[in-house]
Amino acid sequence: MQTIALNDGNKMPILGYGVFQIDPKETQKCVEDALSVGYRLIDTAAIYGNESAVGAAIKASGVARNELFITTKLWINNISRNNAKAAFMESLKKLGLEYIDLYLIHQPFNDSYGAWEVMCELKKEGLVKSIGVSNFYPDKLTDFYFNNEVKPALNQVECHPFLPRFDFEETMKNLGVTMQSWASFAEGKNDIFNNEILKNIAKKHNKSIAQVILRWLIQREITVIPKTLSKERMQENISVFDFALDPKDMEQIATISQNPFIICNHRDVKTAEFLLNLAK
Ligand SMILES: NC(=O)c1ccc[n+]([C@@H]2O[C@H](COP(=O)([O-])OP(=O)(O)OC[C@H]3O[C@@H](n4cnc5c(N)ncnc54)[C@H](OP(=O)(O)O)[C@@H]3O)[C@@H](O)[C@H]2O)c1
Repeated sequence: MQTIALNDGNKMPILGYGVFQIDPKETQKCVEDALSVGYRLIDTAAIYGNESAVGAAIKASGVARNELFITTKLWINNISRNNAKAAFMESLKKLGLEYIDLYLIHQPFNDSYGAWEVMCELKKEGLVKSIGVSNFYPDKLTDFYFNNEVKPALNQVECHPFLPRFDFEETMKNLGVTMQSWASFAEGKNDIFNNEILKNIAKKHNKSIAQVILRWLIQREITVIPKTLSKERMQENISVFDFALDPKDMEQIATISQNPFIICNHRDVKTAEFLLNLAK
């Protein structure tokens, strides 16, 4: 698996497996399948409710801990100086691990500065190897970057062909913060798997639309964590290192965003309210 160097010197697989919206009862099998076909990065979160199942799969798989890269995230109600440590320890316990590879502030709300101080302490103690953020838009990320001594290693944001986030990419490249795409397939919405432009490019390379999308992101040095319940699709989604898109393909994919589509707009008041109420 191709890796990418984070700004703290740690390495991370460029492609991993995400477990959002996977029923906790199905998660262990899915993660075991993912590990068996070669995934080494698993992306979960406290709010997904499936950290214990991810932990059980890791244990059952027998894959050496130092081969794995496990990400989890701090939910909004615990993004504070007071709550962050206990929330982290709970995640660590559920995952059955001695350390987390990457711990993210899940959303740009509540006291991210206070929580970050705690995360820096956890990093010093070796309980987490890398720390980062998620859903931080360029303005918030830049402020956060310049006003913290320890810089976020990564920012996980919604990014797919309908929402390519070239502006986010530029900010993160300038700051040296690794970008990670969530919903690379737009969660299958907006008829993405029937998009004509993607279909033609896929046909040209004898690959699937899913593979073209992942390749398009990876060639921009954006890391990816596609989710699927199907072992066959896991295999398909990881098989993207044997072809390359040419500049014309990349340009054509950029035109898809002429019709933008967003799953979660953090600048929308109703969305913010919805997210803030989720843990209640
Ligand atoms: N930080 C955040 O706020 C945030 C938010 C959302 C997600 N995430 C993370 O990002 C990960 C990925 O995003 P996501 O799960 O929202 O959506 P996604 O990966 O864009 O899309 C998943 C959808 O695509 C389908 N799919 C997967 N591979 C396919 C293939 N090869 N061919 C056809 N369909 C395919 C899946 O169906 P099947 O399962 O039926 O195959 C599922 O419906 C999450 O699991 C989570 O870890 C983070």
